[in-house]
Amino acid sequence: MSAKIAVIGAGLMGHGIGQIFAAAGHKVALHDPNADILGAAKGKMTAICTLLAQDPACLDNVSFHADFAEAVKDADFVFEAGPEKLEVKQAIFKNLGEKTKPTAILCTNTSAIPIGQIGAQVADQSRVVGTHYWNPPHLIPLVEVVQSTETSLATVEATIALLKAVGKSPVHVRKDIPGFIGNRLQHALKREAIALVADGVCDAETLDTVVKEGFGARMAVCGPLEQSDLVGLNLTLDIHKTLIADLDRTPGPHPYLVDKVAKGELGMANGRGFRDWTPEQAATLRKRLSDFLAESAKKLAAKKV
Ligand SMILES: NC(=O)c1ccc[n+]([C@@H]2O[C@H](COP(=O)([O-])OP(=O)(O)OC[C@H]3O[C@@H](n4cnc5c(N)ncnc54)[C@H](O)[C@@H]3O)[C@@H](O)[C@H]2O)c1
Repeated sequence: MSAKIAVIGAGLMGHGIGQIFAAAGHKVALHDPNADILGAAKGKMTAICTLLAQDPACLDNVSFHADFAEAVKDADFVFEAGPEKLEVKQAIFKNLGEKTKPTAILCTNTSAIPIGQIGAQVADQSRVVGTHYWNPPHLIPLVEVVQSTETSLATVEATIALLKAVGKSPVHVRKDIPGFIGNRLQHALKREAIALVADGVCDAETLDTVVKEGFGARMAVCGPLEQSDLVGLNLTLDIHKTLIADLDRTPGPHPYLVDKVAKGELGMANGRGFRDWTPEQAATLRKRLSDFLAESAKKLAAKKV
């Protein structure tokens, strides 16, 4: 089945989301109010095709629209990837509620804002759903499909079916909670990581080595609960009895992080974060990550054919 897709916002996430659907043979209408960003989108989508060894002719499926209403008027699914600001997203969704077909499913790629708040001004909120892609969306398989109290199960199921059909790995998040599932897990780990470094247990490089060369090495195959089942829940319980009470429980962001940001130590962007980075070291890491994810994505796509 070929669906008509509209993508709102052609920035970092939006152009990648559009490319996924175009590569799978769907018609994609891409909108961005910023003419420069809209103008650059086709080149960026072509680069994704090159990275993934896909025929760039698939981009003939994509149309580019400065006009919002024109982009969304025929859409079966709209994926919103605009700025992470509640008032902007609410205005976009109010507009979507008025300018789309009544059957169109309206998806937001918000990282953290509750879906129910984003869709609050849509007359029929049963068609509003979260689709949390991970960056880069064309390389990371997971999409968290987030159901608010208003979202219908039919909307969730149709969205999951579409995402599966284009090769993504959607999961159903049954409650509209901050951070959904993935970011809660990721930031629980970051919270303890920051506390360990702040406490002088190890430096940031050692911390990352422990993850990458240790339990992280098996995580693409064996998730944390699978791993607990593998070693036995009794062992997990024994470890928790000793460990859990000792884990960091600073309420709010850790002062070590707050202090770094206040000092302007923002990470690779300016060479100083938890570690120091030369531009070359930063570029090397970015390339290694992109190459690794592209290889994984190609292997996954080959398995699914
Ligand atoms: N960057 C990430 O790692 C990441 C990961 C997952 C989810 N997200 C979420 O995806 C969304 C987009 O993030 P991004 O990183 O692509 O941001 P971005 O800033 O790169 O892109 C946002 C785009 O929205 C456009 N825009 C501004 N106002 C608009 C409006 N009124 N209507 C339509 N478009 C408008 C901007 O011109 C810009 O091109 C955010 O909600 C973000 O939280 C981001």
